[in-house]
Amino acid sequence: MTATAHTPRVFSGIKPSGDVTLGNYLGAIKRWSEMQGPTFETIYCVVDLHAITVWQEPSELANATREVTAAMLASGIDPEKSILFNQSQVHAHAELAWIFNCVARVGWMNRMTQFKDKAGKNAEQVSLGLYAYPALMAADVLLYHATHVPVGEDQKQHVELMRDIATKFNNDFKAPDFFPTPEPIIEGPSTRVMNLRDGTKKMSKSGDSDMERINMTDDADTISKKFKKARTDPEPLPETLEGLKDRPEARNLVDIYAGLSSTTPETVIAEYAGAGWGRFKPALADLAVAKLSPISSEMARLMNDPAEIDRILARGAERAEEIAQPILEKTYELVGMLRTR
Ligand code: AMP
Ligand code: TRP
Repeated sequence: MTATAHTPRVFSGIKPSGDVTLGNYLGAIKRWSEMQGPTFETIYCVVDLHAITVWQEPSELANATREVTAAMLASGIDPEKSILFNQSQVHAHAELAWIFNCVARVGWMNRMTQFKDKAGKNAEQVSLGLYAYPALMAADVLLYHATHVPVGEDQKQHVELMRDIATKFNNDFKAPDFFPTPEPIIEGPSTRVMNLRDGTKKMSKSGDSDMERINMTDDADTISKKFKKARTDPEPLPETLEGLKDRPEARNLVDIYAGLSSTTPETVIAEYAGAGWGRFKPALADLAVAKLSPISSEMARLMNDPAEIDRILARGAERAEEIAQPILEKTYELVGMLRTR
């Protein structure tokens, strides 16, 4: 049995740490919303246990969780069509993660580039949780026997690791195909949205300057200002996509335009060949405002009713647990744990 023999099921997650960015939206949330439908069961999770691998202010974490949930709801994730919940409310995630800590090898973790980037020279001082992060991520997905994982490019290595964990578990415990080997889905022009001030760096929630990213809560003026001040080179847009080679900032703005308008970079270049930044940047800013303003106003509306968000997350957690609990029980059984009740 291969992954395709399991029910086609999508799982993905996002951390409630800092502001939700345009990178999160184009690289993840927008695509998650589009995957709802007859082909897949879809499960989306606000991964608060992952967030605390680096310090989160306790007084802010619950609200950050609600805000990410609001961003997902406002972007079209429908709690009737998808299971939407926060990770810490389904205990099985932490439990399966422990078992996977005992399956994964230290050598595998040592190869994780995200850990190396985040730990930097400080590897002795970061939390043990940050090191074990990919095992928890494997648990998130495999707890539901999910088969497909839509993520941005930065998560590719983590999805490969979860495939290794699934394979090793199945071999070690003589349970062929118990866990599927999930496929990453990394597609479209926006799998790596770059920083607006430095086209060689990823746009991320935490960065030195707010000018380098677009936040989902930015108002129209702020969005326009950020795109107008975005770093570019002096050349106009080329006639073909090849002309964007070695022009990371220009390429990034074209990719963002393509992502926002749900077309391809080729189509954008065909429309704007030869255009200068004085024409392209305002067009991009207008497009971004048109697409993002309805989402940010809906987010604001939802955030005025936190009890409603909490109800959605509670219901999502119940539904998630119904799938997760039997798979966790079977896992304990395969490992040989004594279960007397
Ligand atoms: P995180 O904010 O790290 O929890 O990421 C949540 C999701 O957003 C993951 O699927 C990431 O790959 C995706 N993501 C985050 N930043 C970017 C970016 N700059 N470009 C594309 N996808 C991104
Ligand atoms: N590590 C992912 C990120 O930083 C978030 C995440 C946690 C995730 N668990 C997951 C993504 C499971 C996909 C599937 O973006």
